[in-house]
Amino acid sequence: MLTQQKLKIAIQKKGRLNDDSLALLSRCGIKFHVASHSLIVRSENLPLDILFVRDDDIPTLVMDGICDLGIVGENVLLEKEIYQQVNDDKTNFKLIKKLNFGLCRLSIAAPAENGYDDLTTLDGKRIATSYPGLLQKFLFDNNIDAEILTISGSVEIAPKLGMADAICDLVSTGRTLEENNLTEVAVITKSQAVLIRSNKEFSQEKLSTVELLLRRICGVTTAQESKYIMFHAPKSALAVIKNIMPGFESPTIMNLDGLIDKVAVHVVSSEGVFWSTLEKLKQLGASSILVLPIEKMLD
Ligand code: PRP
Ligand code: ZN
Repeated sequence: MLTQQKLKIAIQKKGRLNDDSLALLSRCGIKFHVASHSLIVRSENLPLDILFVRDDDIPTLVMDGICDLGIVGENVLLEKEIYQQVNDDKTNFKLIKKLNFGLCRLSIAAPAENGYDDLTTLDGKRIATSYPGLLQKFLFDNNIDAEILTISGSVEIAPKLGMADAICDLVSTGRTLEENNLTEVAVITKSQAVLIRSNKEFSQEKLSTVELLLRRICGVTTAQESKYIMFHAPKSALAVIKNIMPGFESPTIMNLDGLIDKVAVHVVSSEGVFWSTLEKLKQLGASSILVLPIEKMLD
């Protein structure tokens, strides 16, 4: 197959999204082998190349059509959009799907002991960030006059080095902030991983691969949120049980050998299952409750 006809998807080389992006592609049935320091990896069973790049470069690579698809954090896209607006350029990619991983927020944080506990305390201070566009917009919207120091990485150590009074960076688990003794002052925006595509026209070959990939990604993401639930329930409680299970498809009800007042219920929930729902089921007389993950799903 000619190289031009292969679909190219850009993913983050290292960082929070790398593992989950690869896991998603793998769950879509794409076979590949990643050697350490690989920059490009060919799929063994689909006309697809995976490119490992800096996440900040993904929007540009997709806009320029060097890559056809990209998996990137919304935070990077939003920053790019602001940059394009300031430079009177148009963004030239399409968001195809939110992927429901890489959930995080872009926040302003400051050393716990400095007492910057609300926005006004940031007036006249220096804030280090890799997201100058988003930060500037936020400060402007909130009428805060602070100096922005743009640095490309390890933002969290800037206060310790005396370079800045506060930072604006991504927070996922909060571990980085905690390790650097920083507390959140304000959340600027929330973010998750998304799939984007180039606006350039695709060849028929590429288009078929994109369509196949999208179908599978949708299958994987729906399956992840869905659960297969099995339990035994008193026949008399079935009507009430159906009411407490929103997002459940019509259940399969089966007789249990030797029992006349109880049945086995099997049902797929498309919304995940909370402990509270299981506890209610138990209160209604259900027993042997099992919740199983679903690996793949095609509607
Ligand atoms: C972000 C951010 C922090 C870390 C926060 O980096 O810059 O270093 O994640 O996560 P935590 O709250 O779980 O500790 P990312 O992986 O996005 O890489 P990058 O900023 O270098 O692109
Ligand atoms: Zn980055």
